[in-house]
Amino acid sequence: MARIGIAYNVKPETTAQTASQLPATLGGDEAEGSLADEEPPSNGSVPSRRRGERTPVAEAGGRVLVEESAADDEFAEWDTWETISAVADALSVYGQVIHLEATRDFPERLQAERPDIVFNMAEGRGGKNRESLVPAICEFFDVPYSGSDPLTLALCLDKSRTKEVLSYYGVPTAAFAVVESEAQLGAIPQRLRYPLFVKPVHEGSSKGITERNFCSTPADLAAHVRYLLESYSQPVLIEEFLPGAEYTCAVMGNGPRAQVLPIVGMNFDALPIGAVPVYGFEAKWVWDRPDAPLAIFDCPAQMSPALRRTVEATSLHAYRSLGCRDWARVDLRLDGRGVPNVIEVNPLPGILPDPADNSCFPKAARAAGLTYEQLIQACLTSAAERYGMRLPGAPR
Ligand SMILES: Nc1ncnc2c1ncn2[C@@H]1O[C@H](COP(=O)(O)OP(=O)(O)OP(=O)(O)O)[C@@H](O)[C@H]1O
Ligand SMILES: [Mg+2]
Repeated sequence: MARIGIAYNVKPETTAQTASQLPATLGGDEAEGSLADEEPPSNGSVPSRRRGERTPVAEAGGRVLVEESAADDEFAEWDTWETISAVADALSVYGQVIHLEATRDFPERLQAERPDIVFNMAEGRGGKNRESLVPAICEFFDVPYSGSDPLTLALCLDKSRTKEVLSYYGVPTAAFAVVESEAQLGAIPQRLRYPLFVKPVHEGSSKGITERNFCSTPADLAAHVRYLLESYSQPVLIEEFLPGAEYTCAVMGNGPRAQVLPIVGMNFDALPIGAVPVYGFEAKWVWDRPDAPLAIFDCPAQMSPALRRTVEATSLHAYRSLGCRDWARVDLRLDGRGVPNVIEVNPLPGILPDPADNSCFPKAARAAGLTYEQLIQACLTSAAERYGMRLPGAPR
């Protein structure tokens, strides 16, 4: 039997509710000290608020609008116990699962436990290199781990550096600029055509991405850039808005065996009337509710075979250009000429286990005939193969 580590960060608000359900491999001390004092996973300070406090929403023009996006998204990237437990269950076919929460004592615990391999789903403790920390520590102690390496994880968490690399390799991506202050707006290239879309450069899970990021005028742009700079304390990416259909591609495997699972298409018609057609904070966390799910995904996406081939090829090109390993999700959108452009690449994809939750990677896996367990096992098997390891008890 193998000893499989699972590295994760858990959302604080779920801790108190589930402390009594902690797995046996987590001691009480670890569980107590691990979460309450965590720093937020973002680069800098976001407006202060109590954890778990929901920001009020208002009815406006017939639809619900978010008043302050930053208020609710502090821990949006981190996982719930439900997800961590589902992953641990899937890994248990290989042997003992060792919980390694990515807190400050992670290095000591990794060194003491020395698992045969770590399944990495840790979003990290903070800063723009947060996703690289667990893989870097695994490398430091010569412990194999799943997924991309520290360089790729940090690269993909910087949306502008990602776009630079994609451009170098000829992967289409929207024209862009980056500003670190409002004053720099005066120097953004004239070639950028409105409407523009702005976002914090180092975030994910739609942190800082609401309808207001769509800017039709220089006044909109100045106002929203100022808001993002103040709220997220990091540079702001300004991109031309891609007006066409949006897709996300779950990619699995390595080298010539890397493949795209059935493509997920975004059905923007499911958004409230008048909403800006983006899959942002409102669509993910406000308009999609358990009692009224948003039918935003279409999988396998309805598209012509030619477009499907182009989207798949572009996704694989991006995956390889950025050095992704084992799995990653590539977000793309068509430009005004119908060419698929890469928006961003997620080498630590969201993996909510409940099919009722809109989670693209598990959805694509289901469409490919894979159960949630098989998806997680395929990722770990892919990693083990890279290290020349054979996992005992591995399902064929
Ligand atoms: N340049 C663009 N043109 C049009 N829409 C865009 C553009 N950039 C982002 N969007 C919209 O905003 C959404 C969120 O953007 P992006 O994927 O960069 O954010 P994220 O928070 O990292 O997402 P994720 O939840 O996938 O981590 C996209 O799915 C897309 O709908
Ligand atoms: Mg995205």
